[in-house]
Amino acid sequence: MTKILMVCLGNICRSPLAEGLLRSKLDDDKFVVDSAGTANYHIGKAPDERSVAVAKKYGLDISHLKARQFKVSDFNVFDLIYVMDESNYENVKALARDEKELAKVKFILNEVYPNQNQAVPDPYYGGDDGFEQTYNMLNKACAVVAEKLKS
Ligand code: 4NP
Repeated sequence: MTKILMVCLGNICRSPLAEGLLRSKLDDDKFVVDSAGTANYHIGKAPDERSVAVAKKYGLDISHLKARQFKVSDFNVFDLIYVMDESNYENVKALARDEKELAKVKFILNEVYPNQNQAVPDPYYGGDDGFEQTYNMLNKACAVVAEKLKS
């Protein structure tokens, strides 16, 4: 079983979309996909309605997901930890206990644009088109991740 964790700040906009997208591209007999936020603002809440709406538009239901905060023990459980931006990277990195744990943490857009550490911008304060862009970026990145994991 390979276990993949998607991480953003609030776990209500970007990482639930990434979780739903990657899960939809992988066989759930072989892979576990989860998501978490570095912040505690939205623990227990469903994804932002704009993330739910853009997912629904493309045939994905993420409405049942619940936000949780990233925790140190996630390093024991997950093989790969994908972050959305530099700030997520720094926050997760600060909790890594050794080089092996740190090596699990990757920028998700590096799967599409290697070594650039590009961000999936936070769409929280913007309009609906931001969520459409977020969806498209994550769909592209998750397609690459899924192909790599399956091969
Ligand atoms: P996310 O977006 O990190 O993609 O879930 C955000 C959600 C909430 C907040 C910031 C970003 N917030 O400040 O409450």
